[in-house]
Amino acid sequence: MATLGVNIDHIANVRQARKTVEPDPVQFAFLAELGGADSITVHLREDRRHIQDRDVFLLRETIKTKLNLEMAATPEMLKIAKKLLPDYITLVPEKREEVTTEGGLDVKSNFQYLKNFVENLTDSNIEVSAFIDPFDEQINYSKEIGFNFIELHTGKYAELSGYAQYEELQRIIESTHLANDLGLVVNAGHGLNYNNVKKIASINNMNELNIGHSIVARALAIGLEKSVREMKSLITSN
Ligand code: PXP
Repeated sequence: MATLGVNIDHIANVRQARKTVEPDPVQFAFLAELGGADSITVHLREDRRHIQDRDVFLLRETIKTKLNLEMAATPEMLKIAKKLLPDYITLVPEKREEVTTEGGLDVKSNFQYLKNFVENLTDSNIEVSAFIDPFDEQINYSKEIGFNFIELHTGKYAELSGYAQYEELQRIIESTHLANDLGLVVNAGHGLNYNNVKKIASINNMNELNIGHSIVARALAIGLEKSVREMKSLITSN
């Protein structure tokens, strides 16, 4: 049975829209754990557009599950990761102009650089995952580089429908089998929501699903009425 990693970047997005102190992702990580999250995922981006350094260090101290740090393979992030010591790291490609992580990491083109980078982290006892598109070549190179895990990019699956979605699902299933045969642990994520998650969750040996946007969107949908009611009551009661 796959476990659930909850990505709380969007909580920090709301805070950063006002550059204030609420909502605090640290508090929401606690609530996500109460709801059954098996791990908490945060992406510390180079431009610090949502999660801040303070968040990751506080989360390291406060969460009771596992901390999955998503980051780009840069010298700055390597330094932070070695100080933070998250339970594992997911290496992602990062572009300043993108709204969210767009494609998987190209582990083939960056082979030697990533090999050294991953070695540096595993020497510090941090397990490392590669966020990659579901292609055999990327999986084989991930193994050679020395990643412990891969996270298969489900963004395309999430965008497609009908037979095209079915075909992409088959690609993800075959990629999972290939990676398992090579001894890699397989996670998946991006674009998963309440309608499309079940088929991915039921793939044999799927280890963990990382989900953010749809969970935070659902939290707003099921929580807004209550929060308006509380405000209305404060205004109207005397
Ligand atoms: N996995 C990775 C590597 C990501 O970059 C993201 C988005 O931050 C997710 C999973 C979660 O995607 P979503 O927010 O669409 O659920």
